[in-house]
Amino acid sequence: MTYITHLECSICAKRREAGKIHNLCECGGPLLVRYDLAKARAGWSRESISGGPSNMWRYAPVLPVSKPASVISLGEGLTPLIHTQRLGARMGMKDLWVKDEGVNPTGSFKARGMACAISMSVELGVKKVAVPSAGNAAGAMAAYAAAAGIEAHIFMPRDVPQANFIECSACGAHVTLVDGLISDCGKIVASRKDAEGWFDVSTLKEPYRIEGKKTMGYEVAEQFGWDLPDVIFYPCGGGVGLIGMWKAFEEMETLGWISSKRPKMIAVQAEGCAPIVRAFDQGKARSDFFENAHTVASGLRVPKALGDFLVLDAVRKSGGAAVAVTDQEMIEAGIELASDEGIFAAPEGGACVAALKKLLGTGFLKSSDRMVIYNTGSGLKYLEAYSPRFSA
Ligand SMILES: Cc1ncc(COP(=O)(O)O)c(C=O)c1O
Ligand SMILES: [Zn+2]
Repeated sequence: MTYITHLECSICAKRREAGKIHNLCECGGPLLVRYDLAKARAGWSRESISGGPSNMWRYAPVLPVSKPASVISLGEGLTPLIHTQRLGARMGMKDLWVKDEGVNPTGSFKARGMACAISMSVELGVKKVAVPSAGNAAGAMAAYAAAAGIEAHIFMPRDVPQANFIECSACGAHVTLVDGLISDCGKIVASRKDAEGWFDVSTLKEPYRIEGKKTMGYEVAEQFGWDLPDVIFYPCGGGVGLIGMWKAFEEMETLGWISSKRPKMIAVQAEGCAPIVRAFDQGKARSDFFENAHTVASGLRVPKALGDFLVLDAVRKSGGAAVAVTDQEMIEAGIELASDEGIFAAPEGGACVAALKKLLGTGFLKSSDRMVIYNTGSGLKYLEAYSPRFSA
């Protein structure tokens, strides 16, 4: 089922054994899962993918789960890639697409990461999981933990969207609302996990969520006939979706499925919380903690990402950019996407539309480019963010 061989530190390259519980490397580096891609290339073909499950598990050979019985699936992945009818045309573009992650279980792409992490928790015999979350990861973890019969402990900022609080509570998770940001929630999990016996599923402190998220990269290649687009817009909080897609592209090239062509990766953030954009503009390899972080795009309210150096590296190597937009711009762009295309996006998805508009104006992109916007979540989870625009 899987071609996993080992885990490798993204900083010092030290190897770790597969099939064991791991968090960070002792040097502080996130661990990345590695596969025997030469063997996979010989034993697995891209032509066989379409005969697999209609969800992200069609890529099981490059996912870490080794026993089919460990897989906890609610049907995540294989989301629609939609050619825009009006939005692109109004901006003079013929080739603008939206990858709609809002149709995933629990209404966001976080389902991919958590399906993988919770399946691995089942495989490794974990009984209790804990996570600090901006909201959607918590909702996904609560759902998959419920499906797996695992105890879930969730720490979220008090002002998280109500949908996230209610879905976690309904799924039976132990929810704590914290007066602070996701970084404060992370500190609580780190300080209590040993005494409580929790497996810490924090972004990148746990090596398997990124593996689920990378399937967004495999899918876009498959859906375009194994030819990657010219540009990808991705709303960047922790940045794991972007790092994961970048990893997927490298794996696919090694598998002989795609060429060395890469999309320009555009990391989109909110002006009220733009540590990656700041570091990108300053030519820095790492970001600094962003003080007083605030934005209605709760998924983008990450003042300091553990994998910031991986995001910045991928964006730079791709010839891409990092762009910040205001909350007002992302909400207006979200409404435009909904009224033009029928896709009611999370503000994070709206932010990508707003960033595209900004970049088109600068001449950095060609209007003939094939571009994909990742709408990472459903607008239905963000009624507080949209409601000021639609008072009944
Ligand atoms: C809807 C949505 N989009 C984007 C993100 C950012 O995700 P990433 O960690 O991949 O940057 C989040 C994270 O919470 C989210 O909920
Ligand atoms: Zn290391």
